Amino acid sequence: MKLEGRCALVTGAATGIGEAYAHALAREGTTVVIADVDADGAQRVASDISEEGARAAWVEVDVADEVAVEAVVADLDATWGGFDVLVNNAGLYMDEYSGPCAALERSKWRRLIDVNLTGALNCASAVRPGMAQRGGGVIINQSSVGAYTAGTTAYGVSKRALNALTVCLAEEFAPDRIRVNGIAPSSMESDSRPALRWWPEERRREFFAQQLVDRVGHFDDLCNALVFLCSDDASFITAETLRVDGGLTRIL
Ligand SMILES: NC(=O)c1ccc[n+]([C@@H]2O[C@H](COP(=O)([O-])OP(=O)(O)OC[C@H]3O[C@@H](n4cnc5c(N)ncnc54)[C@H](O)[C@@H]3O)[C@@H](O)[C@H]2O)c1
Repeated sequence: MKLEGRCALVTGAATGIGEAYAHALAREGTTVVIADVDADGAQRVASDISEEGARAAWVEVDVADEVAVEAVVADLDATWGGFDVLVNNAGLYMDEYSGPCAALERSKWRRLIDVNLTGALNCASAVRPGMAQRGGGVIINQSSVGAYTAGTTAYGVSKRALNALTVCLAEEFAPDRIRVNGIAPSSMESDSRPALRWWPEERRREFFAQQLVDRVGHFDDLCNALVFLCSDDASFITAETLRVDGGLTRIL
């Protein structure tokens, strides 16, 4: 086990990639706290992980709510003695955010930025003192290839800004021995959820044809990247966003 004895907070882990991340960390020996607005889902994931023999807990919280995040993390710090790992995975991606920025209702724009960008900042700021007390830690921000390829979409802008935040926080938190990195997935699938399932088959094929690796990325590919970045194998890597995209973006 690469992360034995560590304690992780994973946001947006009531379903999807966050759920896969929570299981992957638990398999590597980490105690996992699932944080999500979806209380039922968070409770289900925590109980699934416990049934598999690992330690898990859950909390209902909106990452955009700075005061609530601080209160929840203060409680969790008191119970678990601080976190070694934070995964800022909670994020909004709906059709309404995949259009041009100027056309988006400002209330929706604010919500997108509040969750995808400020939410990560809220959680990082809240866990920092506990992490520092434990002698350091790792923060992972869940970005997207949309940060590089989605042109003027509001979603792309939110993830591009998150990449910038990753670099800023890496610098700010370095004195506390906290590494801050990102993961930028292509459109990924799980055994139960096809990637880009809302697109017509031809558009999906065109999208995946741009990748260099001839298959659709799986949640497992992301979990492998997560475990690596959280582990001591990555102790010299910070301020980096790792693209797990089968060569889709190809940035020099
Ligand atoms: N699915 C993909 O292929 C893909 C690709 C690139 C990037 N991403 C990014 O990965 C992350 C997870 O994607 P997913 O497809 O699993 O998403 P999802 O919509 O399936 O799950 C998101 C989870 O976050 C929770 N959440 C939403 N807003 C929240 C808030 N304000 N506070 C707390 N929890 C909140 C939801 O309740 C849900 O459980 C997102 O940041 C997304 O942008 C996903």
